[in-house]
Amino acid sequence: MSSTGQPAVVADRLGKRFGDRVAFDEVSFEVGQGEVFGFLGPNGAGKTTTVRTLGTLIAPTSGSARVAGIELRPENGTAIRSRISIMPESPGLYQRLTVMENLQCFAGLNELAHPRERIAQALEAVNLRDRASDRCGALSKGLRQRVALARALLNDPAVLFLDEPTSGLDPVATREVHELIGELRQRGVTIFLTTHRLEEAERLCDRVAILNTTLRLIGRPQELREQLFNRSLEVRLRNPLPDPQAVFGALAELEGWQVATGGYTLNVADPEAAAPHVARALVAAGADILSLTEAHHSLEDIYLELIDEDVEVSAR
Ligand SMILES: Nc1ncnc2c1ncn2[C@@H]1O[C@H](COP(=O)(O)OP(=O)(O)OP(=O)(O)O)[C@@H](O)[C@H]1O
Ligand SMILES: [Mg+2]
Repeated sequence: MSSTGQPAVVADRLGKRFGDRVAFDEVSFEVGQGEVFGFLGPNGAGKTTTVRTLGTLIAPTSGSARVAGIELRPENGTAIRSRISIMPESPGLYQRLTVMENLQCFAGLNELAHPRERIAQALEAVNLRDRASDRCGALSKGLRQRVALARALLNDPAVLFLDEPTSGLDPVATREVHELIGELRQRGVTIFLTTHRLEEAERLCDRVAILNTTLRLIGRPQELREQLFNRSLEVRLRNPLPDPQAVFGALAELEGWQVATGGYTLNVADPEAAAPHVARALVAAGADILSLTEAHHSLEDIYLELIDEDVEVSAR
């Protein structure tokens, strides 16, 4: 969180219903200024609806929020929208107009002061100056996504909501968008990023929240890992131990062990402290060690573990 104090976005027990359907409920979190905040969740979890609510496109049905330091209320819509931007799931560009004409059109709709400068800066930011006179319909998906990002940057937002910005992009175009996000973060823009790409969230985000109608978990990827998984060592041996319990049972550092593919998983409180003892005991028992490493759980493991729990709960 930045030293200027005020968080960029605060949601307090925020909720949105469409009739009987609950899109999201009781959602509370804070996003610090300049933070890249990841918003993950399965299809239908309520991510886009949360973005649309915080972006003042639809009104919440419960709870409260502050966006860019302004209370989320109908009368503050214009003020909030002047400080934020949303890049929606589909770019929403006029295919028959050129890149420049699209940006001129949106700059006009937003009644921007100094539109010419803002358009030049936005094009510069997404590295599209030399494509300004191309028709949007003739651009590749990745380039169109960049134009959409330029559109979102026109008002020089303090908070930028990106709804699945890399969905459907190839690895090269994805990396370009990631680099752009990195550049925006350097400039201090707060970024609220919804994504299905867990490696994207892991790479780009300071913190992530996992939503499945209600907020399931929030934190730094590393903290979430430690919260959900016990730490463990993975040991791979050339041959199985004749009597693993005799070896592992004698080690005070182990809290338990299981057979795994090609070796064993050892539950430990402190992998670094335990590893040398484990190695010595295995060598003394005549085992050939192929590898001994701390188990690494990806954000994907965390996500699947949580979503699995939800499926189990709803099946009960
Ligand atoms: N305008 C609407 N009217 C009625 N129901 C809606 C409306 N918008 C969204 N919903 C419902 O709210 C729930 C959450 O939808 P939302 O689009 O926010 O999910 P999402 O997490 O963005 O999903 P995805 O990953 O598929 O984009 C869904 O059940 C959806 O059908
Ligand atoms: Mg969505």
